[in-house]
Amino acid sequence: MKIAVLAGDGVGPEVTAQAVKVLRATVGDANLQLTEAPVGGAGVAAAGDPLPVATMAIAKAADAILFGSAGMPGDEALPYAQRPGASLLRLRKELDLFANYRPVFMFPELIGASSLKPHLVEGLDLLILRELSSDIYFGEPRGVSTNAQGIRVGINTMYYTEPEIERIIHVAFKTARQRRGKVCSVDKANVLDTMQLWREVAERVSKQYPDVEYSNALVDAFVMTMMRQPKQFDVVVTGNMFGDIVSDAAAMLTGSIGMLPSASLSPDGRGLYEPVHGTAPDIAGKNIANPLASILSAAMMLDYSFKQPEQSARIKRAVATVLADGYRTADIFEPGSRQVGTAEMGDAVVAALKV
Ligand code: IPM
Ligand code: MG
Repeated sequence: MKIAVLAGDGVGPEVTAQAVKVLRATVGDANLQLTEAPVGGAGVAAAGDPLPVATMAIAKAADAILFGSAGMPGDEALPYAQRPGASLLRLRKELDLFANYRPVFMFPELIGASSLKPHLVEGLDLLILRELSSDIYFGEPRGVSTNAQGIRVGINTMYYTEPEIERIIHVAFKTARQRRGKVCSVDKANVLDTMQLWREVAERVSKQYPDVEYSNALVDAFVMTMMRQPKQFDVVVTGNMFGDIVSDAAAMLTGSIGMLPSASLSPDGRGLYEPVHGTAPDIAGKNIANPLASILSAAMMLDYSFKQPEQSARIKRAVATVLADGYRTADIFEPGSRQVGTAEMGDAVVAALKV
């Protein structure tokens, strides 16, 4: 398994180290070819570029990429292409990682950490499928300029082509067939032309999957319903911008964004795996960040990129075991549980793999 390890900035290196530890313990060193490369602020420090040419080459040569997090406060002041945080966006775009899977599931042990009442989230298992290669994130024109009246104007462009919408909607329906057979497409078709096209395409594609239950929702109403009755959803497919927002909100249903993994796949099957959380600069370097999102991202990698669902399930079981044994990082700590640091949590998962 050829894996590029791009740990990045902030808590990225700490949590990624735990995921690597768990991968080694799961599949064995002999099966792993890991290549580390700097990205984000680390890329700027190493090569003056948040996504150094050498890092890009390593990412392209790998079967899969394990990504930590990139970017630090103050980055916004830099030109877009030089921003450490933008390195991730460039990777997504250049590798055409259009299908972003963000599973949101409840570990029973963490039910008390959810922002919602236990009965609303017990057994919760939904998948946010976020389109990741287009939309207002990449649309042109963009930028801040001064208009003819001397007034400063900021512009971004919400943009989707029909094929871009079509391919993510197909992924949604195919994925739903492996799950509970339901797709909800989330848009803002009542206001935005881009989203009118989105809805039209989603409705058309849905006809090709009569065995899958299709619905659509406007993003504002969707978020409200997700907070009221999240268990009614199975696969939720949405654009890049709405997917970003909706997935952070969904994270709180499970107690902590420190628990949520993700996979981003390209049409040719290349995958980037990363925790949904960011660099968390306030807790970086303190060995207190929760590594479970990164560890669970490595589990998704074994499943999606290397077709080893049994090994992937083994990691998920090990995570469930350590939670049942009371191990908690600070973000999910509850009185009576056993508070551990980042590295200890990684060790606990490794130990639980053996049982
Ligand atoms: C995410 C993050 C990124 C995004 C940032 C770090 C660019 O919030 O992956 O959800 O907006 O896509
Ligand atoms: Mg986000």
